[in-house]
Amino acid sequence: MNILKNKTAVITGAGSGMGKAMSILFAEEGANVVACDINSANLESTVSEIKAAGNIVTGITGNISDETDVKKIINNTIALYGGVDILVNNAGILDDFMTVNEMKNEMWNKILSVNLTGPMFACREALHQMLKQGNGVIVNIASVGGLFGARGGAAYTVSKHGLIGLTKNIGFTYAKKGIRCNAIAPGAVNTNIGANMHPDMLGFEALNAGMGINPRTADPSEIATIALFLASDKSSFINGTVVTADGGWTSY
Ligand SMILES: NC(=O)c1ccc[n+]([C@@H]2O[C@H](COP(=O)([O-])OP(=O)(O)OC[C@H]3O[C@@H](n4cnc5c(N)ncnc54)[C@H](O)[C@@H]3O)[C@@H](O)[C@H]2O)c1
Repeated sequence: MNILKNKTAVITGAGSGMGKAMSILFAEEGANVVACDINSANLESTVSEIKAAGNIVTGITGNISDETDVKKIINNTIALYGGVDILVNNAGILDDFMTVNEMKNEMWNKILSVNLTGPMFACREALHQMLKQGNGVIVNIASVGGLFGARGGAAYTVSKHGLIGLTKNIGFTYAKKGIRCNAIAPGAVNTNIGANMHPDMLGFEALNAGMGINPRTADPSEIATIALFLASDKSSFINGTVVTADGGWTSY
């Protein structure tokens, strides 16, 4: 359908899960995709798959929580494609469902810097360019953990609540500048995010209290289609809000 034809889209966390699914779909829909990830081997696999399909992609390895890397990603995108039409802040990490009484400063700072400060860096750099262009769309991948209290540990919950706050602030502030910003709050999605986890038992117990009412786990492609809609002009009047995509989990 080519609904993103001639658009340039930066997607973070593109080496796995939802970021990979979005990168493939956005490229299929005609976008120049700038796929970014801290894991260069996984990133290379996403880039190869998109190129093999004959679509346009550039891979940039970088850490979203490092301001210098974020500047490099956005500046290289502008140098290569002339602008940034779409930014998807998707990269994120879990926190072992860590409770406050067990929280280490290192864990708190790491989760906040990857899940919240990193997206702010990326929004800031992208907004400089989007303001010059007079248009742009930002999609932040939050979580139902950003809407409720026990879908993750304390740091993850706070980071995703913060990301939703950032989304609303940007959405309203730049609404008259041709720029939109929305978030997606996915429920459980079948990705690699839970690999190598060492869950805190009390935090895990709190999460598990609600798992029995979760109807199902989604495929990453089911979130990618929502991101595509939000990134495209088809959602032109949707701004500063959160699309919950959880198969009905939080409707109970
Ligand atoms: N999987 C779920 O159930 C679920 C539910 C709700 C929200 N989310 C959110 O969705 C987003 C994508 O997660 P996923 O489930 O696809 O996970 P994933 O682990 O499969 O993919 C995340 C990607 O982000 C990359 N990444 C991690 N830290 C990074 C950093 N500092 N800089 C750059 N890249 C980095 C990883 O290397 C990985 O490739 C995250 O923000 C996550 O919090 C996931």
